[in-house]
Amino acid sequence: MGDKREEGLSALLHETRTFPPTDEMVKRANAGPGIYDEANADPLAFWASQAEYLTWDTPWTETLEWNPPFAKWFVGGKLNVAVNCVDRHVEAGLGARVAFHWEGEPGDTRTITYDDLLKSVCQAANGLTELGVRAGDKVAIYMPMIPETVVAMLACARLGAPHTVVFGGFSSDALRGRILDCDAHFVITADGGYRRGVASPLKAAVDEAVAECPDVEKVLVVQRTGQEVDWSEGRDVWWHDMVSRQPEHHEAEAFDAEHPLYIMYTSGTTAQPKGILHTSGGYLTHVAATHRLIFDIKPEEDVFWTAADIGWVTGHSYIVYGPLANCTTSVMYEGTPDTPARDRWWQIIEKYKVNILYTAPTTIRTFMKWGEDLPAAHDLSSLRLLGSVGEPINPEAWIWYRTHIGREQCPIVDTWWQTETGGILITPLPGITATKPGAAMTPFPGISVDIIDNEGNSVGNDEGGYLVITQPWPGMLRGIWGDDERYKETYWSRFPGKYFAGDGAKRDQDGDIWLLGRVDDVMNISGHRISTTEIEHALVSHPAVAEAAVVGASDATTGQAIVAFVTVKGAGTEGAPDGEEFVAELRDHVAHEIGPIAKPRQIMLTPELPKTRSGKIMRRLLRDVAEHRDLGDVTTLLDPSVVNAIKVRMSDGAEDKE
Ligand code: PRX
Repeated sequence: MGDKREEGLSALLHETRTFPPTDEMVKRANAGPGIYDEANADPLAFWASQAEYLTWDTPWTETLEWNPPFAKWFVGGKLNVAVNCVDRHVEAGLGARVAFHWEGEPGDTRTITYDDLLKSVCQAANGLTELGVRAGDKVAIYMPMIPETVVAMLACARLGAPHTVVFGGFSSDALRGRILDCDAHFVITADGGYRRGVASPLKAAVDEAVAECPDVEKVLVVQRTGQEVDWSEGRDVWWHDMVSRQPEHHEAEAFDAEHPLYIMYTSGTTAQPKGILHTSGGYLTHVAATHRLIFDIKPEEDVFWTAADIGWVTGHSYIVYGPLANCTTSVMYEGTPDTPARDRWWQIIEKYKVNILYTAPTTIRTFMKWGEDLPAAHDLSSLRLLGSVGEPINPEAWIWYRTHIGREQCPIVDTWWQTETGGILITPLPGITATKPGAAMTPFPGISVDIIDNEGNSVGNDEGGYLVITQPWPGMLRGIWGDDERYKETYWSRFPGKYFAGDGAKRDQDGDIWLLGRVDDVMNISGHRISTTEIEHALVSHPAVAEAAVVGASDATTGQAIVAFVTVKGAGTEGAPDGEEFVAELRDHVAHEIGPIAKPRQIMLTPELPKTRSGKIMRRLLRDVAEHRDLGDVTTLLDPSVVNAIKVRMSDGAEDKE
């Protein structure tokens, strides 16, 4: 496991402060002290009791059918996910409750009640039906953060048509790859969305992607920005023409608990992102239970804000499905934290009296850089609980979050999970756990994890190892879309019978869990998962590039940053591309292939890459170089001088970093 991370860890483990829950939290919290014992005594009964919070058309006959590594939860049960998120709340007389306080980046706002949401979802479901969408059809959604994105997802769920939401910051190439992989015949998009004051060209990207997707029949387009768009007659349909004239009633069908709900693509260690499949009953049980118990939601009074994009799993589980299943009032914000000014979030919290905020450490570190005066100038006294997700949170950021955002009064829940896990698996519980800055602490009730060595043996306290999950859980992925073998191979073969998460972890002296970051070639940039291989492929697809190696180097704000080492064709000869302009061209090329989030922070042109005698690129060494560390033993290298040459060039160029 990573040397540097180990060093970071020992610093973390010297962090000994603990923060017990306040008396008020202990008294009020949804999760009471008996919950761990209850769940440990009978995890399946615990999950079944959580599933009872949902409304089922047909009750399940068996809680779990486990044919490792294939799980079926709530076997025989039938439900409609959209009905659980919307209709049943309206039927219970809660239709006037706000589902979303939506805030557009330019300052426009919309208030959407559960009544409004029900009408919109029914209209969208009728509209999609008119376009030809049927249960089982896949629908790609490529949207900005606007209410129609939620409506589109729920309309798909209502029809039993699995959606695949593609983050609006991904390129048309990335969108095309996903549409083709899951065989989506329908795309829902918008003309554009606002980001830092600029209208992004979403529809144009869809046009480019769909040009090479012959099976796409219809593209449904929401008008958000009013910008000019190209129009393909017969294929493209305006949302406001078609959906708005639909009836406001739609009879929902109940689907099997294991009916596919969505496919979310995420980066793995290969160039091709994996389509992670989530299904209905178990997933909704998991996200609703974790949302209620970890964020301590009191739906009748709380305003909840997951400040993430719906294009990632955090948005799926904790903006859409978990909060809506619990009839929560949420804030949804379209834009960036610095538009028009760096106090936008604090304005939003003050305006809507947000009680619970859930965000990523990278954002907290950015706020730290911007200074505590900005939050101090706003009334943040409504906040009563803070959450963190996406990457390990360093103790400094944790303490800053607690002090400057939480007024030293809000518990912080550092929640560990993944696209694959569907919902949170390791976390404190706010009325029970005495938290430690930087630790995710404890498996959620009903979740069994272990930390093991290379041979699969549990390691002792204070010894690092691999994090595995030892029992199935309801929100777990049901597979990789279209590739059962890859599912088995990726997650279940390294340690047979155990789910291998790809993360390193450690228990401290008290047995509490600290996450140490990825142990594979997956990077975590600002809480976003990006594979080194994917970027290497993008670089090599440039006609001038011969070979590329990409590593994640530590970065004080983004957690990790992308550093690429590239050799060009004909390197060293006259006319071979070189220089800053070419490097800029390569960075743009990566942005075009994958999306701006994948742009390397630094690209180092080098005549050769360091390789072992067997021809493997030594990424670990390159990471050391990228992080300006001593190189240690390089004797297994084919030509040790290569790496030293790179190192010299790298330190020469250290000031050039963006
Ligand atoms: O390395 C872990 C890190 O993010 C990875 C999952 O990324 P993704 O599937 O994109 O989902 C992100 C949002 C759930 C994990 O393998 N990670 C996530 N949360 C934490 C974390 N690392 C440490 N602490 C966390 N709280």
